Amino acid sequence: MTCMHLRTALFTAALACAAPAASAQIHYNPQTHVFRIDSAGTTYAFGVNDMQELQQLYWGKALAASDNFPAARSNDGNASFDPATSTTPQEYAGWGAGLYVEPALKITFPDGNRDLVLHYVSHTIDGNTLTIRLKDIEREVFVSLRYTTDPQTGILGRSAVIENRTSDPLLIEQAESATWTLPRGTDYTLDYLTGRWAGEDQLQQEAIRPGQRVLESRRGSTGHQNSPWFAVERDHATDQDTGDVWFGTLAWSGSWRITVEQDQLRAIRITGGYNPFDFGYRLAPGQSLDTPVFYGGYTHDGIGGASRLLHRFEIASILPQKPTPKARPVLYNSWEATEFNVDEAGQEALAEKAASIGVERFVMDDGWFGQRKDDHAGLGDWYVNPQKFPHGLKPLIDKVHSLGMDFGLWVEPEMVNPDSDLYRKHPDWVLNFTGRPRTEGRNQLVLNLARQDVRDYVYGFLDKLVTENDIAFLKWDYNRNWSEPGWPAVSPEEQKQVYVQYIDNLYSILRELRAKHPGLEIESCSGGGGRVDLGILRYTDEVWTSDNTDPFDRLSIQDGFTYAFTPGVMMAWVTDSPAWRHPGITSVEYRFLSSMQGGLGVGANLNHWTPEDFATAKRLIAEYKQIRETVQHGSLYRLVSPRGSEDSVTESVSLDRSQAAVFAFLHTSQFGYPYPRIYLRGLDPKAEYRVHWISSEPEKPGPHSELTPMPDHASGAWFMSHGVDVNLRGDFQAAAFRLDRVAADE
Ligand code: DGJ
Repeated sequence: MTCMHLRTALFTAALACAAPAASAQIHYNPQTHVFRIDSAGTTYAFGVNDMQELQQLYWGKALAASDNFPAARSNDGNASFDPATSTTPQEYAGWGAGLYVEPALKITFPDGNRDLVLHYVSHTIDGNTLTIRLKDIEREVFVSLRYTTDPQTGILGRSAVIENRTSDPLLIEQAESATWTLPRGTDYTLDYLTGRWAGEDQLQQEAIRPGQRVLESRRGSTGHQNSPWFAVERDHATDQDTGDVWFGTLAWSGSWRITVEQDQLRAIRITGGYNPFDFGYRLAPGQSLDTPVFYGGYTHDGIGGASRLLHRFEIASILPQKPTPKARPVLYNSWEATEFNVDEAGQEALAEKAASIGVERFVMDDGWFGQRKDDHAGLGDWYVNPQKFPHGLKPLIDKVHSLGMDFGLWVEPEMVNPDSDLYRKHPDWVLNFTGRPRTEGRNQLVLNLARQDVRDYVYGFLDKLVTENDIAFLKWDYNRNWSEPGWPAVSPEEQKQVYVQYIDNLYSILRELRAKHPGLEIESCSGGGGRVDLGILRYTDEVWTSDNTDPFDRLSIQDGFTYAFTPGVMMAWVTDSPAWRHPGITSVEYRFLSSMQGGLGVGANLNHWTPEDFATAKRLIAEYKQIRETVQHGSLYRLVSPRGSEDSVTESVSLDRSQAAVFAFLHTSQFGYPYPRIYLRGLDPKAEYRVHWISSEPEKPGPHSELTPMPDHASGAWFMSHGVDVNLRGDFQAAAFRLDRVAADE
């Protein structure tokens, strides 16, 4: 259904737009000029106001179909200091006409004019997509705003296409995807994620105050420091599962920014897109620039409900195997065991041991290529190292297959060591400013993927590698951020396009590789979780959550991760203890239970394991296979948060509520208090569930203990309302159990 040019074809458009379509959830009222998007319990509305601006009217719980929004009216402004342009909640504001809040678009024209005022021109509605066309009041600059709605979750996707139809090039200095607005209020709490290498995804919560809070990456990639995700809770509920929550996430793997601001009228505006820092996109006549998609959703079911919606959306609408991704196989990864010292015999020995405990995918990490002995050399030279693998990779891959596993390989395609044949041949292929130093990180430089020749080289060697070897999985690593982001091969005016072109080429390589090798799965890794976002997740099946594999530290990293991303992509390995970054001593079982809350892997040096360790691992991997569908694709309930607490408990419930998996951890008992009672969620209250211990069963409480013994079976109501006790005492203790719904005739 198409509605064209409102002012000239109003009547025709009104008739066309009013015709109901089977899945139509987007409506336009030609009398009031109000657009309304209804889906999955939410309503989003905005209108064309008296100034011809696009003005937000409502975002929240679904309203009655009979509720009519009055026409949008621009706000008066507060004083001469706050003109209406700034106080009216515009959907997508150009920087012009006195705008002091965060603009969505800022342009410098060649004649020095920097005033941009965007007015409504026309719109189209096509199924679940609404496109609004805006134009500057004087110049031929058009912006098409795209709104898509997901009927299952109500999550909206918003993006913009900026088109230069003038006869001169122009410079885009800021291009955001969207501004989301929440009504005036002083009772909002902002949730966001911060971190660093080996310490990702720490949840922060703070009251929203006047002014701005900026979440961003200026690093050329998503970064460990902030995740491109936010949630805003109203009247901050202590309970995870009730209350109004608005949330959003930006699908972009380059430099990005989300600005949360409370404006002069106390409305909340959340603007996100390309990071305007050092941005400058030259748009020639006839060219256009697309922004990334900024997804946003609303729920009345608290922050827990918000993440469950996001998980559902990612699984059904983002991941490459959407809408029903395959469960993540249990993998073994060689990195912590052998680091760079990989060779045929050593890897085969590890593969045999991994297969014996039920591992399904064997992944050889760094060290197999070029002259790679440590991190000083080899990146860029993607031939198999002849000393380590004299017969190529085939013997190892064949061995892995003969053991019943598939084979995965580590690559770091975007990087080059100065000590490499590639760099010696093409020193101009890296990001650099002519004549300036080239700052190294981990002894490596960043290849400028924005260059077509670099892009073709990277695609070419990956395609060859996967074509010539039976590789089911690539771990795609990226171990530093940008410095000196120059692109001397193009004109100075075009150089800053690197921020967009690099990432577009990265996506195109991933897309083409997957299209040509449909069975291939890919993991996004960037020194752990430095590149996790909904942009890269369109092309990658899983992510490496963190280089920190300490099972206790992982509890809070994983807790934070799941606010923004589904546990179905969250890889977690069981490694050695004590080891590298984790001096504390934990049992094999504790380490497994920590890792079993996501995609399970093993990264320990199996050459050092005892027969008991192998037996425990074999038993727990078999248990994991019984619950992984529930853990990876079910509904996650955070029952006790590990933040600031000795305890933490998660529960995953299958979508049909036939199974639940519960993981409980204790850091250290204090003052002899018993472990808190666990109240489960999300079960069928009337159904009967049988208890099965995944971990070894904790000691049963004595006859006069304050703890209630765990029943063999009970109703969903019992588990949720009465709750259950697990007898955890001491240091680094853990337990896990599964509930299986008992069939009515059993
Ligand atoms: C960083 C990754 O996060 C690690 O898992 C490992 O692959 C190393 N790079 C290898 O250099």
